[in-house]
Amino acid sequence: MSKVKLNLIAAACENMGIGTNGTLPWRLKKEMAYFTTMTTQVSDPTKVNAVIMGRRTWDCIPDKYRPLDNRINIVMTHNVDSVKENVPEGVIVVPGLDEAISYIEKRPDIEATWVIGGSSIYKAAMTHENCGKIYLTEIQKSFDCDTFFPNIDKQQFHLVDEEKIPSEKQVEGDISYYFRVYKRL
Ligand SMILES: NC(=O)c1ccc[n+]([C@@H]2O[C@H](COP(=O)([O-])OP(=O)(O)OC[C@H]3O[C@@H](n4cnc5c(N)ncnc54)[C@H](OP(=O)(O)O)[C@@H]3O)[C@@H](O)[C@H]2O)c1
Repeated sequence: MSKVKLNLIAAACENMGIGTNGTLPWRLKKEMAYFTTMTTQVSDPTKVNAVIMGRRTWDCIPDKYRPLDNRINIVMTHNVDSVKENVPEGVIVVPGLDEAISYIEKRPDIEATWVIGGSSIYKAAMTHENCGKIYLTEIQKSFDCDTFFPNIDKQQFHLVDEEKIPSEKQVEGDISYYFRVYKRL
């Protein structure tokens, strides 16, 4: 097995929804900042992290925020050639998760790998032998969604405490949520 560990990061509401109409169902500034910090921070300052996403998630990111800065952006699609033509230089376009992992293996300057959605990409990563942890923000409210986080197999993934992750309830406006971490046994 390759050494590349896949960390998933997502925010889901009570009904496990993660998106609607190609966007996020909520606006949570601090939650977004958590996503940015988690996916960007490195312990070795000479390295960077990689983010792997599906083509629709790439499409969802407003132009001014993409590629996500200070991270290697990897986009998965079945249409590599046409997507390549439409993304800025430096964005890596791959036909599958294994190709993303092979690319990362050849880049010793990549420290951590974050899988940032959407649904099918999370599912592929969760069932992949290289899957490590799931960083899931659990929003204590239901939203109308058309895109969902896949079922977490609680036989395989256990809730763990992570030192640097706040365990207390987070509140933004009238929405509260918890930062949870699940680790595969
Ligand atoms: N709350 C959160 O944490 C969070 C995170 C991410 C996204 N979202 C939301 O989720 C929605 C987008 O997610 P989504 O699930 O609809 O789409 P997605 O997973 O981002 O993208 C789906 C696309 O990825 C490509 N793809 C999927 N599986 C593949 C595979 N095995 N090999 C190669 N390519 C593959 C295909 O692209 P082609 O069609 O080009 O072949 C497919 O159409 C949006 O509403 C977004 O806001 C929420």
